[in-house]
Amino acid sequence: MLSKMKINNICCIGAGYVGGPTMTVLADKCPNLKVNVVDTNKKRIALWNNKDLSNLPIYEPGLSEIIGRARGKNLFFTSDVEESLKNADMVFISVNTPIKKKGIGAGQACDLRWVEASARQIAKFCTGKTIVVEKSTLPVKTSEVIEEILVSTSKSEKGKEFYVLSNPEFLAEGSAVENLLNPDRVLIGGDNQNAIQILKEIYLNWVKDEKIISTNLWSSELSKLISNAFLAQRISSINTVSAICEETGANIREVSTAVGYDSRIGKNFLQSGPGFGGSCFKKDISNLVYLCNHFELKEVANFWEQVLLINSWQKNRIYRNIVSKLYGNVANKRIAILGASFKANTNDLRESPSIEICKKLIEEEAYLIIHDPQVSQESLELELESPKGWEFQKNINKVFIDVDAIIILTEWEIYKSLDWLKIYPIVRRPSWVFDTRHFIDADKVKKSGFKFWQVGSCND
Ligand SMILES: NC(=O)c1ccc[n+]([C@@H]2O[C@H](COP(=O)([O-])OP(=O)(O)OC[C@H]3O[C@@H](n4cnc5c(N)ncnc54)[C@H](O)[C@@H]3O)[C@@H](O)[C@H]2O)c1
Repeated sequence: MLSKMKINNICCIGAGYVGGPTMTVLADKCPNLKVNVVDTNKKRIALWNNKDLSNLPIYEPGLSEIIGRARGKNLFFTSDVEESLKNADMVFISVNTPIKKKGIGAGQACDLRWVEASARQIAKFCTGKTIVVEKSTLPVKTSEVIEEILVSTSKSEKGKEFYVLSNPEFLAEGSAVENLLNPDRVLIGGDNQNAIQILKEIYLNWVKDEKIISTNLWSSELSKLISNAFLAQRISSINTVSAICEETGANIREVSTAVGYDSRIGKNFLQSGPGFGGSCFKKDISNLVYLCNHFELKEVANFWEQVLLINSWQKNRIYRNIVSKLYGNVANKRIAILGASFKANTNDLRESPSIEICKKLIEEEAYLIIHDPQVSQESLELELESPKGWEFQKNINKVFIDVDAIIILTEWEIYKSLDWLKIYPIVRRPSWVFDTRHFIDADKVKKSGFKFWQVGSCND
C-alpha cells in the first residue's frame, strides 16, 4: 500500500537554478534521506562538485555554506541518471521548460522536450513504486502527459507503479535559500492523497503544517503560472507609472512607497527599473497567453500579453533615452555598464534587461566596459553573442576610465557606495550617469559634476 511507503532515496532530474538549491535545502533539512541530483550537463555537475565552494555554477547568498555541510553526506551531484533513478522512491523533475523556438506555438508555447525525456528516463529506469513530482513550471495538464508516458512505457513491466504530483517552486533567484527555508507556502497538487501526504511529510521537517496547501493537479499547475503573471504585472504597472513621474515631477520612489503602504496593495514588487528579466516571467506569461488563446479567451490573452509589451517598451524607452542624451550617437563612445545579471544577488543572465540594452548599444558601435560582481566572462560571451564591442572588468576601480557614460542596470548593493567625487576626474566630460533602478543618491552624483538621469524622476 502506498500509505506505508517509506521514502529513503530521492532523485532530482536537473541541477539548475531550481534543482540545485531546492535539493540542497531538502537534503540539509532531512539528513535521513539520500538525495541525488542528476544532470546530463557534465560540466555543471563538475562545478557542483567543485571543492572550492566559490566555483559553484549558481550564485545564491547562503547556498555554498549549506552545500559545504550536506554534500558528500546525503547530497550528491552526479550525471549517472540510470543509477540514481534505479534506487529512487521519489523523483523530482526540475528540468528547463523554455519557450518553443520553432513550429506550432513558437514564441509562446512551452517546449516540453526535456520534461518528456525525463518521463521516459523515469519509466525506463525506476523500479517498484515511485512518486514523480513536477517541480518545473509546466503548462496546465502536463501531468497528464507525464502520467501517460509513465504508464504506457512501463505497462508490461511488473511491479512498476507511478504517482504524479505537482509541486511548483516559488523561489525567487537572489533569495532562493531564504525562500526555500521560509517559504510563504508549499503547494502540492495531486489525485492521490497518500502520495500528497508522503511529500508533505518531507516538507514538515522544516515547514509549518498551515503553510502546506494541497489542491488538485490542474489548480497547482495553473497557480504557478498565475503567481508569476501577477508578479510580472506589478512590475509592468509600476514601470508605466515611472514614465508618468518623469513627465509630471512626481517621484517613483515616493509614489510606490505611498501606494505600497496600503495593506490591500503591499510594498513588494513596486520598484521601477529597466523591466523584469530572468528565465521565468516572460516564458510563463507567454505560456498563459498561449493557453488563453487555445481556449479562445482572446480578451484574457490580450490582457496578459500587455504585461509583456510594457516590459519591452520600458527597456526600449530607457535605451532610446540614453542614446538621445549622448547626442544621438554612441559610436566609439566608452560606456561603463554596472550590472549584467537580471537582478542583484544572482549570476543569472537569462532575459536580463542589462544584456538586451548592452546588445543594442554594441549594435550602435559603443564600446562597453561591463562590471558585475558575480557573472563570469564566459557567460557574458554566450549571452552577448558578440566578441567585439565590449570587455569585462572585474575591478570596479578600472571601469570608469575615460567613459562618456555610466549606466547602472542591476541594483547590486556595492553600486550604492560608489564615491562619485573620485570617479568624476577620470571620466571623459561631459559625462552622464543613468540610474535605471532609481536606487542611488541623485544629489551626490549631480554635485560631483555628472549629468544625471534616473528612471521615474523629473530629470531636467
Ligand atoms: N529559475 C528560477 O528562478 C525558477 C523558479 C521557479 C521555477 N522555475 C522553473 O523550474 C524549472 C527549471 O528551471 P531552472 O532555472 O532550474 O533551469 P536550468 O536551465 O537552470 O536547469 C535545468 C537543468 O536540467 C538539465 N536537464 C534537462 N533535461 C535533462 C534530462 N533529461 N536529464 C538530466 N538533466 C536534464 C539541464 O541540463 C539543466 O542543467 C523551469 O521549469 C523553470 O520555469 C525556475
